[in-house]
Amino acid sequence: MNIVLIGFMGSGKTMIANALGQKLQRPVLSTDKIIEDSQKRSINAIFTESGEEVFRRIEHDVIKDVSQKDNVIIDCGGGVVLNPDNLLLLKKKGKVYFIHATPDVIYQRLKNDTSRPLLQVPQPLERIKELYQHRLPLYNQADVVIDANDASIDGPVAAILQ
Ligand code: S3P
Repeated sequence: MNIVLIGFMGSGKTMIANALGQKLQRPVLSTDKIIEDSQKRSINAIFTESGEEVFRRIEHDVIKDVSQKDNVIIDCGGGVVLNPDNLLLLKKKGKVYFIHATPDVIYQRLKNDTSRPLLQVPQPLERIKELYQHRLPLYNQADVVIDANDASIDGPVAAILQ
């Protein structure tokens, strides 16, 4: 069974996935990293040069691939839930955890971040709230919801290990 982490940018998915990988001695597959490595360019560059639609198509191809693995930890980009097929694929061999943090917490964590193209706007908090409202019902299709508002990842990691 795979462990699949979904949730908003800045919710802590990558840190939690890496900690789980260490504790369980299982490979961690980050969809964003796989995309950047295969494209040989950053997520920012893909968005600016090719657009979000192209990024989503590449992301879907990566999901098709990683969802077929066994006993891995899959760290998903925040937008994978936008394509319902992605979640169906991930659930076939995985238990899906929604790593949840509120818009205010996300904003505090990402206000100086430049690696998320969707948040490079004049009013990032407003943008986070809009995206969050739209995506919350999609994230809630996960099997388990994990609270990740605390700065420490120990709680979420312990909850998933249980
Ligand atoms: C995105 C989240 C990012 C990355 C891209 C788009 C999104 O991943 O895939 O910038 O639409 O929420 P993280 O959730 O790892 O930041």
